[in-house]
Amino acid sequence: MTEMLKIVDLHAEAGEREILKGVNLTVNEGETCVLFGPNGSGKSTLLATIMGYSTVKVTSGSIVYKGTDITDMTVDQRAKLGIGMMMQRPPNIFGVKLGDLIKTAASESAESVLADADKFKMKNFLDREINVGFSGGEIKRSELLQLTAQKPEFILLDEPESGVDLENIDLIGNKVHDLLYDKKGCGRDIQRHVSSLVITHTGQILDYIGADCAYVMKEGRIRCSGRPMDLLKEIKENGYGECGACQIINL
Ligand SMILES: Nc1ncnc2c1ncn2[C@@H]1O[C@H](COP(=O)(O)OP(=O)(O)OP(=O)(O)O)[C@@H](O)[C@H]1O
Ligand SMILES: [Mg+2]
Repeated sequence: MTEMLKIVDLHAEAGEREILKGVNLTVNEGETCVLFGPNGSGKSTLLATIMGYSTVKVTSGSIVYKGTDITDMTVDQRAKLGIGMMMQRPPNIFGVKLGDLIKTAASESAESVLADADKFKMKNFLDREINVGFSGGEIKRSELLQLTAQKPEFILLDEPESGVDLENIDLIGNKVHDLLYDKKGCGRDIQRHVSSLVITHTGQILDYIGADCAYVMKEGRIRCSGRPMDLLKEIKENGYGECGACQIINL
């Protein structure tokens, strides 16, 4: 299997504090991997590090994407290579309208993505500054619309269903599914080799996408990996203490 993303012994700091303490993780081409872990364990920091946000400083280790070492690349270089991210808490972007960002980000026809805004219930938001005054659920739909415009090959999703009401969970879940699967010709089940790393606490998003592997992060390290549903069941029953569902422990 081709390795899409390979992270080796990654250490990183935020606010002069070491948050990632030797992360090892691999996502293969076409795979969706889930990242579980308690609050504050470093999951969002890991995704921010993969995307290259300047809030995090890599002190050692490497991030290799499709065979290229991207550890020192800028965010825009990584985005151009095909990496995209839906943030847990994206910032307000004053002075930039959502519709204008979509026109800039659209990898293919911006017009068709803008026309699609209605399907994301985002048509009335295109003239608004990005995230400014958006509700929690509106931010999630806006982030997904932006990702749909960018059409990344490797998608980082940080709690896509968190704070979303039950009716809109369906919309979010189906749109995430559409990002990962090719709809052309063969229905919804043929993967177009898009890979993803998805953070979820509840596992609700897994009702809409098939996940191939799962990792549990604790205190800045990946402590175990296993089958997504086995790990989720274990976490729901026993929390994050001793994990009976791990296939590999202390990676
Ligand atoms: N700039 C910073 N300065 C100091 N500490 C930081 C900074 N950024 C992150 N941290 C700390 O790093 C730890 C990991 O944060 P992170 O957001 O990655 O956790 P998480 O696993 O995503 O948690 P959650 O499930 O609550 O979203 C937290 O204790 C957080 O307070
Ligand atoms: Mg987080």
